[in-house]
Amino acid sequence: MASLLLLILLLALLISPSQADTAICTSQTFNNSNVYTNYADLTSLGSCLHWTYNASNSSHAVAFVFVGYTNYDSWIAWAINPTGTGMVSAQALVAYILDDGTPAVKTYNITSYSSIIPGKLSFDVWNVSAEYTSAFTIFATVKVPEKAETVNQVWQVGGGFNKITGMIEKHSFAAANLISYGTLSLVPTGGTTNTRGDV
Ligand SMILES: *[C@@H]1O[C@H](CO)[C@@H](O)[C@H](O)[C@H]1NC(C)=O
Ligand SMILES: *[C@@H]1O[C@H](CO)[C@@H](O)[C@H](O)[C@H]1NC(C)=O
Ligand SMILES: *[C@@H]1O[C@H](CO)[C@@H](O)[C@H](O)[C@H]1NC(C)=O
Ligand SMILES: *[C@@H]1O[C@H](CO)[C@@H](O)[C@H](O)[C@H]1NC(C)=O
Ligand SMILES: *[C@@H]1O[C@H](CO)[C@@H](O)[C@H](O)[C@H]1NC(C)=O
Repeated sequence: MASLLLLILLLALLISPSQADTAICTSQTFNNSNVYTNYADLTSLGSCLHWTYNASNSSHAVAFVFVGYTNYDSWIAWAINPTGTGMVSAQALVAYILDDGTPAVKTYNITSYSSIIPGKLSFDVWNVSAEYTSAFTIFATVKVPEKAETVNQVWQVGGGFNKITGMIEKHSFAAANLISYGTLSLVPTGGTTNTRGDV
């Protein structure tokens, strides 16, 4: 009896991580959430990515959902880093809530750790918007390199921002903030989830 209980406990421990991996995505809905082919939890900061990659024109439509947005003075970001894996050289979509309560999103060409201000990205991007309901979502379609199989993604939540210049302040250096990057398979082959966004 005791060993059966132990077995059940062990099985539960083995099973729960993979169930948790879609818990964030499946707990959230947003307008048109059904239009994306794939989704994966980006668990390190309680977020989720929905995406549809169209190989015939190299378009990659994303919806980045940040669930635990409570500080209206902070920003959220999702980025592709075409030349590296972390923050420097990331081509970012950064969203925040304006004084009137509406969400805004801007593009940032992040070339260093200082002076992070809005700028054009190194690739084309269309249909950029943000929606704030129970979660905070950034929508965009980006052009990825032809025949790309993966992209390096980076996501983040951070300090304040200057509403005039758009300059954003640094994020926390807590463990969760420092592991918020990974490789995104545009067409996932095995499963759709991973704790670090390596999907
Ligand atoms: C999302 O859908 C709801 C319900 O249809 C609607 O009230 C809301 O305006 C929509 N939000 C956006 C940002 O389109
Ligand atoms: C992918 O893009 C091509 C070229 O624009 C288009 O013809 C096709 O319908 C798209 N596929 C999907 C699934 O949207
Ligand atoms: C790719 O195809 C989709 C679906 O037809 C279309 O919505 C989108 O505008 C196209 N993107 C590019 C970059 O041509
Ligand atoms: C991004 O910033 C770097 C450094 O300022 C610059 O060399 C590069 O041209 C910028 N990229 C775009 C697309 O503007
Ligand atoms: C942008 O949105 C419009 C309207 O929904 C759509 O027709 C167009 O295909 C989209 N463009 C891309 C590049 O996804």
